[in-house]
Amino acid sequence: MTSLAQTAQAGVSCRFNPTTGCLILSSGTGSVQLPPLWLRERSEAPDQLDHASHQRYFDPTRLPADLAITDAQPSAEGIALTFSDGHCWSFDPTMLGIEAGLLPDPLALPAPEAWTAANMELPIADWQTLDDPAKMRDLLAGFFRTGVVVLRGTPVEEDSLLQIARRFGPIRETNWGRLFNVRTEAAATDLAYTGRALTAHTDNPYRRSVPGIQFLHCLMNEATGGESTVVDGLAIAEALRAEAPGLFRVATTLPISYRYRSDSVDDRMDAPMLDIMPDGRLKHIRLSTRLDFPPAADPETLAAFFEARRRLAGLAADPAFEVSFKMRPGDCLMMDNHRTLHGRGAFAEDGRRFLQGCYIDHDGPECLYRVTTRRLFETGGSRVTAGAESS
Ligand SMILES: [Fe+2]
Repeated sequence: MTSLAQTAQAGVSCRFNPTTGCLILSSGTGSVQLPPLWLRERSEAPDQLDHASHQRYFDPTRLPADLAITDAQPSAEGIALTFSDGHCWSFDPTMLGIEAGLLPDPLALPAPEAWTAANMELPIADWQTLDDPAKMRDLLAGFFRTGVVVLRGTPVEEDSLLQIARRFGPIRETNWGRLFNVRTEAAATDLAYTGRALTAHTDNPYRRSVPGIQFLHCLMNEATGGESTVVDGLAIAEALRAEAPGLFRVATTLPISYRYRSDSVDDRMDAPMLDIMPDGRLKHIRLSTRLDFPPAADPETLAAFFEARRRLAGLAADPAFEVSFKMRPGDCLMMDNHRTLHGRGAFAEDGRRFLQGCYIDHDGPECLYRVTTRRLFETGGSRVTAGAESS
């Protein structure tokens, strides 16, 4: 059996610094100071932590603010620390190194990698192989890097998408139902239900909680046209940031009113087109030029917004950023709806085209990845490389 600690980079050392009162953890790449409270609340002693749920039995806000380390001794696990509240626990320096970010976390999700048409080969995974945990882990790793994967060879029965999507997480039901049918309708309640082309967009930006992952499942595609398109929102956001920092700033700060309204629905959400994290990385792109309305900001700000939106939409429509393909029955597109844009070409009503769609939240695949990876480590089935099979 291989523990997660054994998989991490070795060579972590630790020593107690009586001057600062902290434990100093060092590796070949750097060092970090760990204060007593940070360490004390990570005790995994059986009377401190429920090992089934990994929830604490105690409330760390009730620990003394001036808690100190009163003794530090080498132990079989690494280092045994005694705290001023009388508690003692032996810590594994490697696990502390992972927890403190000094060592790579074997359970961390693979980081997103921006792609364009030039360097993207659409990841395709064989649905039949996904009972193999290593195949599932590889598929998910590829999905986290690219934000899109095609599951091929899925069942083609109507509504089978529910079983396909549930493989990755609970269904996120919306006013469109658990599943929605993408086919031409006489009285369409969304332009998706017509034969019109749809420019690359993200779904449902008008929700307070935008669905995290979208599935589009092809049951029939005999119509002329209707090619599916995907675009990396991360790539176009980075392109905008690089070529026009001022426009990028407006895109990340000006709240836009996204709206969907019908007889029985009135959804609205005010948010910028681009959400970025404190370190500048893209967290969420909302782009749907059918239903976005800027506020009545000053003309200069609005001019910048209109230019930023025009540029983002232009990048999304640029063949350099777009991957186009024709879905065939049994293909199921899985997309990160906070990152990947999707669209389609117009199609003629000379054949039947029937797709079904549904949503799940990000938690499902992220949890599945961590649990599968952990079990692969524990059973010795882990492999160093990960990445969805491509064709
Ligand atoms: Fe859509």
